[in-house]
Amino acid sequence: MSVDLLKVNNCLNSLAKLIDERQVNEYNGNLKVGVDLGTANIVLTVVDDSGKPVAGALYPANVVRDGLVIDYIGAIRIVKELKKDVEKLLGMTLTRAATAVPPGTIGGNMKAMSNVLEAANFEVTGVVDEPTAAATVLQVSDGAVVDVGGGTTGISILKNGKVIYTADEPTGGTHMGLVIAGNYKISFLEAEKMKIDPNKQNELFPIIKPVIEKMAHIVKKHIAGYEIDKIYIVGGASCFVEFEKVFLKEIGIEIIKPAHPHLITPLGIALNEFK
Ligand SMILES: Nc1ncnc2c1ncn2[C@@H]1O[C@H](COP(=O)(O)OP(=O)(O)OP(=O)(O)O)[C@@H](O)[C@H]1O
Ligand SMILES: [Mg+2]
Repeated sequence: MSVDLLKVNNCLNSLAKLIDERQVNEYNGNLKVGVDLGTANIVLTVVDDSGKPVAGALYPANVVRDGLVIDYIGAIRIVKELKKDVEKLLGMTLTRAATAVPPGTIGGNMKAMSNVLEAANFEVTGVVDEPTAAATVLQVSDGAVVDVGGGTTGISILKNGKVIYTADEPTGGTHMGLVIAGNYKISFLEAEKMKIDPNKQNELFPIIKPVIEKMAHIVKKHIAGYEIDKIYIVGGASCFVEFEKVFLKEIGIEIIKPAHPHLITPLGIALNEFK
């Protein structure tokens, strides 16, 4: 089944607006909650039974690295704050939530994500893998999902609705920031600010293009040998200008990048709560 991009984008635009404007949507039935503990952002998302976004909150954070919780106390504090924030907007207490882990996470690391949510007073009703979360939003059952986040790039291949291959590579938006910092001889934080400024991205493109080409090369190696006719790109780093064009040129397979790619996995986590 191919993606209904218009519908998916409407949903993502709605969630982005709710987060930006600190608004809530009307809803029907029960609410489902998802918490994405990312390398760059922690996002709490609320949807209703029909899958409609109801509320959300995002906090830029540095408490997880490469899928591992490195600042447990900080992570709990942020999840508690996001929970309180959204509860205030909704006028009700949120008790249950799902979370996600990068593909291939095992054992204690999987538990660490749930422990953060539990310590923030959530009953954890699901731990989904990130590609499955993204695929739920896109409603696709076949193809490759590439999640270019802050610290890592997850590559997943789906066939008949099942994840049949996953890999997680240490490249992403942070890498792009480091390259900018090195080229302009500025701090990483300044470079990150410059990177996400839409007015600066054309100027930065020549130095970032090789980084994107390298990412595409990595993805191409992983998907070699699989029959894939579409690659779905998600994750914040793919917001960079011309990102999908560089991928298409390097890989030669149709690239689909929905709106607000950094919100796709967070939305999918909420959709997967108590499934
Ligand atoms: N408009 C933009 N242009 C370029 N990069 C962006 C933009 N918006 C966000 N980013 C980058 O996207 C990255 C964060 O993406 P995302 O929120 O998907 O990551 P994450 O889920 O926190 O990380 P991970 O999945 O690696 O744990 C950061 O490096 C950030 O600088
Ligand atoms: Mg992520």
